[in-house]
Amino acid sequence: MAAGRSRAVFAVFGVLSVCAVSGSGPVAEGETGGEAEWTEPWDGAVFRPPSALGAVGVARSPGTPRPGREEAVDLPVLLWWSPGLFPHFPGDSERIECARGACVASRDRRVRGHSRTRALLFYGTDFRASEAPLPRLAHQSWALLHEESPLNNFVLSHGPGIRLFNLTATFSRHSDYPLPLQWLPGTAYLRRAAPPLQERAEWRRRGYAPLLYLQSHCDVPADRDRYVRELMRFIPVDSYGKCLQNRELPTPRLQDTATATTEDPELLAFLSRYKFHLALENAICDDYMTEKLWRPMHLGAVPVYRGSPSVRDWMPNNHSIILIDDFESPQKLAEFIDFLDKNDEEYMKYLAYKQPGGITNQFLLDSLKHREWGVNDPLLPNYLNGFECFVCDHELARLEAEKAHAASPGDIPGPEPHIAQPSHMDCPVPTPGFGSVEEIPENDSWKEMWLQDYWQGLDQGEALTAMIHNNETKQMKFWDYLHEIFMKRNQNL
Ligand SMILES: *[C@@H]1O[C@H](CO)[C@@H](O)[C@H](O)[C@H]1NC(C)=O
Ligand SMILES: *[C@@H]1O[C@H](CO)[C@@H](O)[C@H](O)[C@H]1NC(C)=O
Ligand SMILES: *[C@@H]1O[C@H](CO)[C@@H](O)[C@H](O)[C@H]1NC(C)=O
Ligand SMILES: *[C@@H]1O[C@H](CO)[C@@H](O)[C@H](O)[C@H]1NC(C)=O
Repeated sequence: MAAGRSRAVFAVFGVLSVCAVSGSGPVAEGETGGEAEWTEPWDGAVFRPPSALGAVGVARSPGTPRPGREEAVDLPVLLWWSPGLFPHFPGDSERIECARGACVASRDRRVRGHSRTRALLFYGTDFRASEAPLPRLAHQSWALLHEESPLNNFVLSHGPGIRLFNLTATFSRHSDYPLPLQWLPGTAYLRRAAPPLQERAEWRRRGYAPLLYLQSHCDVPADRDRYVRELMRFIPVDSYGKCLQNRELPTPRLQDTATATTEDPELLAFLSRYKFHLALENAICDDYMTEKLWRPMHLGAVPVYRGSPSVRDWMPNNHSIILIDDFESPQKLAEFIDFLDKNDEEYMKYLAYKQPGGITNQFLLDSLKHREWGVNDPLLPNYLNGFECFVCDHELARLEAEKAHAASPGDIPGPEPHIAQPSHMDCPVPTPGFGSVEEIPENDSWKEMWLQDYWQGLDQGEALTAMIHNNETKQMKFWDYLHEIFMKRNQNL
């Protein structure tokens, strides 16, 4: 549902009508939080809908007087081109105080051409190449916030798309304002004690499977259901979501997708009956890790994980999760889980990180300690406000560098351009969850949907790059370029 809404909807013929609809203004509140599925009630908790953000923006600088217009007159302006994310309330503009100084954050698009408007801030999920503000103005940085997976927009997973931006805040550690731990509140969250193993053994005796699968967003780039379906041939999996469902949640309250809310204790208690949780991200990108990974650890279950290829770098120790891709087949994985299921001592080794001193990964500890934003932490800014200030500071520094250069052009060079890199959104071409692309029929929905989306993302990035390069503005031109690229690619096949 939401995936269909926010995916870069595009088909080479008949595009115009589709895009006119998808571009109709600001994001609806509450729709910004990733996969729409009730198995992820934590979306709202971590990534608050815009209306809830205002208070946080003010809280960042308590005691700051609200200045009148005249005091803000020389400040650089940051324009949220995606107005739905504007993290202030009420009004369309707000003075913000950051480490280097102050800026004005605005969502009033009328300031777009102003010389003081130094940066445009985009939300990746809403970014449409066909609607980019053109011609691009040389004095303005483009800043991208995209904490979600490319499920929502494959334009940014390709060089031509991501390099349109100057500053990024993505899930990647390589981005300018990195958010890889956006779903992890802190070490205490990981350390929470696991329920006694006897309790889980009791649930096993009552007929529960060793493995839990809880997923209601079934058709995703990572094609996870194809793998889980295969795994189910070799080991029992209790599947409660819409995907591969074979059991019902015990109470109507839990079954109701709408009332399964943030950190619902009843749901958490239910989930923690399981020793192993299947934890497969909706897309495979370096450093893209979500609550699917951290929540089972919080509950003292062992995640059976597929997602970020570099996930090991972030684990509390080197023996805390089971990586699907370490196993040559679903059958081999099933055998290993069965072994752990029957061997408590070996199983408990996976929870050793919960003991005092058990979190030995210094990289993880340092990353948590040094990030300046918080997850559900009233004392820290959220990353939306944090990124806004990061951009403000960057622009203040760039202004200073420009001034210094103007004062003595012979001695002091102007600021170097800063351009985002593909590593900031490192999501390779989607591959089948199980088996090879060749084995999967052409009419397979995953193949039709996600492989196409991926390559169309590349085309769109190239079309927009061509327009920027030629300093063009007309939307019609975008579709001409796109058509040209499409024809060229087909000729080369
Ligand atoms: C995992 O960590 C333990 C204890 O720190 C260490 O002895 C062991 O060699 C590590 N194993 C791997 C595969 O890194
Ligand atoms: C921003 O990135 C573009 C490339 O997309 C580059 O041409 C431009 O110089 C960069 N601007 C700044 C201020 O770094
Ligand atoms: C795909 O094509 C095959 C053979 O042409 C057909 O049997 C099958 O029903 C089709 N599947 C879908 C999902 O359309
Ligand atoms: C791009 O076009 C705008 C408006 O047509 C013009 O003001 C600007 O000078 C052009 N920029 C370049 C680099 O040609």
